Amino acid sequence: MKNRDEILAGAGVNTRLAHAGNDPADYYGFVNPPVVHASTVLFPNAATMENRGQKYTYGTRGTPTTDALCAAIDELEGSAGTIFVPSGLAAVTVPFLAYLSAGDHALVVDSVYHPTRHFCDTMLKRLGVTVDYYDPMIGAGIEALIKPNTKLVHTEAPGSNTFEMQDIPAIAAVAHKHGAVVTMDNTWATPLYFRPLDFGVDVSIHAATKYPAGHSDVLFGTVSANAAHWEQLHDTQITLGTCAAPDDAYQVLRGLRTMGVRLERHQQSALELARWLEGVEGVSRVLHPALSSFPGHELWKRDFKGASGIFSIVLDGGAPDRHKAKAHAFLDALGIFGLGYSWGGFECLAVHVSLSDRRVAKGPTEGPVLRLQIGLEDVKDIQADIERGLAAARAV
Ligand SMILES: Cc1ncc(COP(=O)(O)O)c(C=O)c1O
Repeated sequence: MKNRDEILAGAGVNTRLAHAGNDPADYYGFVNPPVVHASTVLFPNAATMENRGQKYTYGTRGTPTTDALCAAIDELEGSAGTIFVPSGLAAVTVPFLAYLSAGDHALVVDSVYHPTRHFCDTMLKRLGVTVDYYDPMIGAGIEALIKPNTKLVHTEAPGSNTFEMQDIPAIAAVAHKHGAVVTMDNTWATPLYFRPLDFGVDVSIHAATKYPAGHSDVLFGTVSANAAHWEQLHDTQITLGTCAAPDDAYQVLRGLRTMGVRLERHQQSALELARWLEGVEGVSRVLHPALSSFPGHELWKRDFKGASGIFSIVLDGGAPDRHKAKAHAFLDALGIFGLGYSWGGFECLAVHVSLSDRRVAKGPTEGPVLRLQIGLEDVKDIQADIERGLAAARAV
């Protein structure tokens, strides 16, 4: 029989998702890897113990369970190595701690996930790192913001809540010219629809809590680095001890098996609803990068292979003092959508978005912004639910 790895390397993405990570032959033919709960690993003798001369040495440094997931993620990301951390937020903060020191400067996109900004404005500030926020559409113009001590440029595309696109290759080229590391929160696209390392990013960040886990029951982060940045990332992980739990690693690998088909459904339903919403009374704008009306759509078309299932709508707001009442009326009328944070799970979720933290990328002001995570439910039922929300908002 031909080598399994060779066959899989040339296979389609769903085939690779079904088989990546572990070889059943390694575990007596069981299809899934074992869940290894471990702190202590025993050594056969003192010399091996002294030299750490065996594959596994301690639970924080990897197990057969985390190795299986690691191999799958490295293959998807095209990375030299991946660390696991206990949440998507830690997948941002750990690499920031890896590459930034007191006296350094970082550039962070203004449409960033809010807790990332909070980390920058509090802990990084306390540690002596300064941060400036830049316009997501800045492209190569980011060069004007680079300082002699700029060590890290953080990207996130599409942006949180308002979905602004970024010219990642242009930004990465400028950052590299000035010796800065480029990180990207790629949670929206997953490596199925965008592979950051192929576009010049050094470190790809993923809240695996979302699509990889896929069932709203696991918190998990992955950080994947290219060869030049792997050692520093790995050393930081070992130094901080921010390892992830074995049951969670197992659940994320389990989620990966179906992530391709789930994403296809999320994509299809979300696009159908986004297109419908563009023509609906009471909606002033739909913020979805795969819509040709969306600023930045050309960047999405150029670089991305697909779109996931989360986007926002801006309601016709009337007077600013009625925006909140309209948003609440919309949310309170929903029966299928849950009112909750996070996304990437099997179920619809809605949230009234606050953009009050923005400094340069202000976002829409004509009405309230509602973020919709489109789940795996039937589209006609989701549409009927949104219609209930819109009718209630119109009545305010
Ligand atoms: C873009 C983005 N990055 C990171 C995170 C953090 O993930 P977690 O909830 O696992 O901390 C989120 C969570 O909503 C997110 O939307």
